[in-house]
Amino acid sequence: MAKVLVTGGAGFLGSHLCERLVEQGNDVLCVDNYFTGGRANIAHLIGNPRFEMMRHDVTFPLYVEVDTIYNLACPASPIHYQFDPVQTTKTSVHGAINMLGLAKRVKAKILQASTSEVYGDPEIHPQPEAYWGRVNPIGLRSCYDEGKRCAETLFFDYRRQHGLRIKVVRIFNTYGPRMHPNDGRVVSNFIVQALRGDDITIYGDGSQTRSFCYVDDLIEAMIRTMNTPDDFAGPINIGNPREFTIRELAEEVIALTGSRSRLVFMPLPSDDPRQRQPDISLARTVLDWTPRIELRSGLEKTIAYFRGEMRAAAE
Ligand SMILES: NC(=O)c1ccc[n+]([C@@H]2O[C@H](COP(=O)([O-])OP(=O)(O)OC[C@H]3O[C@@H](n4cnc5c(N)ncnc54)[C@H](O)[C@@H]3O)[C@@H](O)[C@H]2O)c1
Repeated sequence: MAKVLVTGGAGFLGSHLCERLVEQGNDVLCVDNYFTGGRANIAHLIGNPRFEMMRHDVTFPLYVEVDTIYNLACPASPIHYQFDPVQTTKTSVHGAINMLGLAKRVKAKILQASTSEVYGDPEIHPQPEAYWGRVNPIGLRSCYDEGKRCAETLFFDYRRQHGLRIKVVRIFNTYGPRMHPNDGRVVSNFIVQALRGDDITIYGDGSQTRSFCYVDDLIEAMIRTMNTPDDFAGPINIGNPREFTIRELAEEVIALTGSRSRLVFMPLPSDDPRQRQPDISLARTVLDWTPRIELRSGLEKTIAYFRGEMRAAAE
């Protein structure tokens, strides 16, 4: 069993990862500055002797003894990463440098939570890892997209230059309990709007497609990637290749919540990709992994979570 550091561990994905790692018997150190994450996400782990929480900003160096590092710290939704774009780039770039420096000092294996956003608005569909992407370097999303691209560069340079054991996973749209209710991400947006009976806002005509991976499937693939042999670094796509239009998603949410919400259409924001779908052939081969949870059952669990949160807030 290992001593594992999870940066961004109080966030949506990080909290599920900490939970799974603790269940597997690891000692987990969760580091977070609580910018978008919160104590509530990890409250159930506090008090567990295998779990420790530390408030820290990854843009500053960190000196701890660990064997394994999962680097997830970074706001992931446009509303949050565009709030302070300079800090977003710093979190990706300085955060990567600091965590790679730590990995180098303590000889730890390190995994970077990268993103499908490195493909930008892709000309190739679905996107294999060999595709270099089509990213606007000066747009509103660039602090996130280019920050993540630069972090990938740093990971591979530390591997070439210092022989570090690295893994890079490119995460596609993931959803599930503990997503932020107000972060503008499409699944949480639609569920919250439907549960409140508000209009469901669709940007564009709703024909743009996305693929949605349930969080448990994602965490399984992340841990499997960490456990691959040292000569495998990735990058590796993780996501669910099943594509849905945004309109189909909205209709499914309305059906599952039994809501009377109506669909309303708003202009598409700049640089919003038309289509995004992972090619997961590599993950199927290297990780022997494929997503198992269907959209409907993932949505049911997520809706149950948001219902509980809204009920608790109303009490
Ligand atoms: N959820 C997705 O669909 C998705 C898709 C692609 C990539 N990712 C990546 O996965 C990671 C986790 O995403 P998430 O969806 O859980 O987002 P999230 O916002 O819920 O979690 C990010 C966590 O990082 C913390 N954080 C932010 N800046 C920090 C800093 N400077 N120092 C320390 N902690 C900091 C936040 O407080 C939060 O707890 C991110 O790196 C994100 O880019 C997520």
